[in-house]
Amino acid sequence: MSFETILVESPSAGVTLIRLNRPEALNALNTQLLGELSQALDAAEADETVRCVVLTGSEKAFAAGADIKEMSDKTYAQMFSMDFFTPAARRLEQFRKPVIAAVAGYALGGGCELAMLCDFIIAAETAKFGQPEINLGVMPGIGGTQRLTRFVGKSKAMDMMLTARMMDAAEAERAGLVSRVVAADKLLDEALAAAAKIASQSPLAVMMNKELVNTAYETTLSTGVAVERRLFHSLFAFEDQKEGMAAFVEKRKPDFKGR
Ligand code: HXC
Repeated sequence: MSFETILVESPSAGVTLIRLNRPEALNALNTQLLGELSQALDAAEADETVRCVVLTGSEKAFAAGADIKEMSDKTYAQMFSMDFFTPAARRLEQFRKPVIAAVAGYALGGGCELAMLCDFIIAAETAKFGQPEINLGVMPGIGGTQRLTRFVGKSKAMDMMLTARMMDAAEAERAGLVSRVVAADKLLDEALAAAAKIASQSPLAVMMNKELVNTAYETTLSTGVAVERRLFHSLFAFEDQKEGMAAFVEKRKPDFKGR
């Protein structure tokens, strides 16, 4: 598969690396890029050797938002009928394997929303997060008002959305938006190492862990805990559970087969 606005690589067994690649526009997210991203995700989901995806941008920008030049003249009818950004967002929402966002530089507007659609964010010290859509007379359109508020709470979310101020990496880590902050030149190594670690686990247990953390956002505590208990018990139907526990007892590395 060849793409013009993203680069897809396989840096190690089980890991797909997707780089957003519109350097001339700070990786602004246009229809072509979003379509190619969806296709690359489709391929990664369908390939059973792929266990984890890393999504990254450049040193300067993860993505500076939806493409303002593409959007600026659109009518309501066009935005409604093309359902701008939604298919790519749905693709990520429904993606069953883990996706790590490795963010350096700007993650603004739709770029911040895209990072939040991933399962967790590893940030370089240079990362800057923001929802500056208010400066354009609009607002986030792909979950930012909802997801950022859940990540960082009402006060910081309001502050960022109403004043358009950016959050640096240290503040983003304190606020719980990102899982870790690393030196810029270590960002990809760190994200790929995390992905390789995930790729070495039982893919079945990985998918169930992911589903359950996401369930926490969608349901009550008692319902979530009940679903977790059922799925925890069900893991004992898999060979991977036997292998994982046998390997511990035998003091060796487990060899998970995804069965
Ligand atoms: C289109 C963009 C862009 C964007 C940058 N560029 N962001 N093009 N859409 N979102 C382009 C610039 O026009 C410029 O192209 C080139 O990238 C370099 O950008 P500069 O502005 O010259 O760089 P710099 O001075 O370093 O400033 C960086 C920046 C600034 C602070 C990130 O570019 C900026 O404020 N960008 C817009 C951020 C934003 O408002 N994002 C939200 C978009 S709305 P030329 O051709 O001039 O060299 C959104 C809605 C999501 O995301 C909802 C979807 C449903």
